[in-house]
Amino acid sequence: MALFVWSDKYSVNIKEIDSQHQKLVGMLNELHDAMKEGKGNEVLGRTLAELIQYVGVHFAAEEKLMNTHAYPEYNAHKAAHVKLTQKAVELQKNFQQGEHVLTVEVLGFLKDWLQTHILGTDKKYSPFLIGKGVV
Ligand SMILES: [Fe+2]
Ligand SMILES: [Fe+2]
Repeated sequence: MALFVWSDKYSVNIKEIDSQHQKLVGMLNELHDAMKEGKGNEVLGRTLAELIQYVGVHFAAEEKLMNTHAYPEYNAHKAAHVKLTQKAVELQKNFQQGEHVLTVEVLGFLKDWLQTHILGTDKKYSPFLIGKGVV
């Protein structure tokens, strides 16, 4: 079973963002599958790097939208992104150094973070941005 099963409750009702979130969920599930299938460190490392890179693309897109429309909670939201990015880079570094930290716990942490962030922090900008005409 997939690690993270997407459902409508995660929708922020903004097309571009929903599709980015779905892509992130897909990538996280892919990494989970690769790990469960016992794929080697090369595949895991590559998949993890792709996921982290796409997280960066997604955060930048959200930040641009929030900034463009002068979202009042921009700073706090950006700070949450920075914190997760630092954490993800740290996890990646540990993995590269062979500390075998790419475990169910690490993926569980990323999944929980993403779910909580979408449902709490991301959902909060939804009515504001939609009110500004973002679709
Ligand atoms: Fe966000
Ligand atoms: Fe997001």
